[in-house]
Amino acid sequence: MNQMKHVAIIMDGNGRWGIKNKKSRNLGHRQGLKTVEMVIEETIKNKIKFLTLYAFSTENWKRPRIEIRFLLNLLESFLKENIDKLDKNNIRLKVIGNLVRFPTKIQNLLTISQQRTKKNSKLQLNLALNYGSKDEIIRAIKLIKKKKYEVNEKMLNKFLYTFGIPDPDILIRTGDTCRLSNFLLWQLAYTEIFFVKKMWPDFTKKDFVNCIDSFLSRDRRFGKRV
Ligand code: FPP
Repeated sequence: MNQMKHVAIIMDGNGRWGIKNKKSRNLGHRQGLKTVEMVIEETIKNKIKFLTLYAFSTENWKRPRIEIRFLLNLLESFLKENIDKLDKNNIRLKVIGNLVRFPTKIQNLLTISQQRTKKNSKLQLNLALNYGSKDEIIRAIKLIKKKKYEVNEKMLNKFLYTFGIPDPDILIRTGDTCRLSNFLLWQLAYTEIFFVKKMWPDFTKKDFVNCIDSFLSRDRRFGKRV
């Protein structure tokens, strides 16, 4: 039986859900936050130690300013309203991505939240923010070259944002779209991928548990013949 340590999720379809149900993409994002809360609870219930959520990509800056502002406000209120709860529930918050483009008050809030929760051990919640996998890999290679180290797999792992985090066992992408969108390209080499038709706000506990159960019964060979 497979064991699961790490679930990664591309939470796609908020905008389409919002337009269809409430006539506003932003209300789709707000609804998506409820699914985030459900998934955090379920991840803990299933004793999975790492959850990585793609919350804002390097490409998301190309969206209209008003939508970007809404997403940043949502992130800010999520942190302000939930940091006590995350800490109390022994959850460690970690950001992967380059934060320099974010407003200073959000950078500060993220730094404080990471600092405050860094000793927590029940679940590590990784938020991918201004994250792009190609950026991450190039950044790692530049850092290795700067230190004049040899470029190899172990060294590259060491300089990625995800150092110390096991590679995802499963990736779930909602929103009826079959692509990786520059998310964890290196780390997903052997990950089992689930493309789900539902939009993120409609993704339920049962859908999540179905992905977990399906993974647990899959045969993973990592390229070996058995
Ligand atoms: C993709 O849907 C979703 C995003 C770019 C943002 C995801 C954000 C949340 C779920 C809420 C904030 C989360 C945290 C953890 C604070 P889309 O807008 O690309 O949907 P579409 O494909 O229908 O346009």
